[in-house]
Amino acid sequence: MLKPEIEDGQASLADPQFRADVLAGLERRPRAIPARWFYDRRGSELFEQITDLPEYYPTRTETSILAQIATELARQVPPHAALVEFGSGSSTKTPLVIDAIAPSAYVPIDISGEFLRDSSRVLSTAYPDLLVLPFEADFTRPLALPRTIADAPKLGFFPGSTIGNLIPLAAVDLLRAMRASLGQGAQLLIGMDRIKDKDVLERAYDDAAGVTAAFNMNLIGRINRELDGTIPEDAFRHRAIWNDDRARIEMHLEATRDVSFTVEGRDFSIASGETIHTENSHKYGARDARILLRAGGWTPVAEWTDPDGLFAVYLAEAQEPRPAP
Ligand code: TRP
Repeated sequence: MLKPEIEDGQASLADPQFRADVLAGLERRPRAIPARWFYDRRGSELFEQITDLPEYYPTRTETSILAQIATELARQVPPHAALVEFGSGSSTKTPLVIDAIAPSAYVPIDISGEFLRDSSRVLSTAYPDLLVLPFEADFTRPLALPRTIADAPKLGFFPGSTIGNLIPLAAVDLLRAMRASLGQGAQLLIGMDRIKDKDVLERAYDDAAGVTAAFNMNLIGRINRELDGTIPEDAFRHRAIWNDDRARIEMHLEATRDVSFTVEGRDFSIASGETIHTENSHKYGARDARILLRAGGWTPVAEWTDPDGLFAVYLAEAQEPRPAP
């Protein structure tokens, strides 16, 4: 039977890239869906809740490191620098850096224009003398930054261990793209989560209150809502697994029984125990972190950690590669 026109109209409202990524991801073995699709409105709200969980140490640890290094940052970063934040989101950690280095301009870059405008407004109100230049873009590619900041020294800011959500190949590509965007002599302030006890790591991504589980499961809800899916939510459960070989936490949605469903009219069957891989969070030891930075064209110049060594913040410089050892 032909679908009524109105339904076709509604189906076409879904993001075509979301549709393509989900269908291809469910087809592929192992099944995997890109993590960017977590962040619809509900997903973004759940993520904000994750950052407050007792088990989720990264946000509070990085925030306390940033608060403690203000004086040192002020000494290392030239005055009137332009602060360029990659994937700025709600810009919650930005005031710590602004207070430390008193930049002349702030360029938040985010793929979500709505988020960007809201957080830019909040920052402009808090810092009336700061030039705020929001930039809606996909920061994984090299960008032409606003001409206004062409002559200012640049400090890139990439907190949250977001670099860890990329596989090393893509992480190096991103670091090189940032280097190309910011230019020779630029500095980068970047947070990276450390390798630590497996249980601590797994609990950070599978909390007792079930918020991270809800965050992961929301992807199924989103597929059902936006792609006309019939996935029974009670046939899946959240898994957070430490992959020691790759030094990363993996998030999966695991089928708890044999299950069949449709997405956009296509049939899928998943066997009990099979998973859909939804996120990676790579962790870096001290030497790993420094090698990753150098591989991406950034020379580490300072490294700060918390007393328990849970998390690290690096300041690095974009330097011309040496032609000889
Ligand atoms: N980069 C952070 C991390 O890996 C934040 C994050 C991304 C996250 N995806 C997540 C946290 C999924 C919890 C669950 O920790």
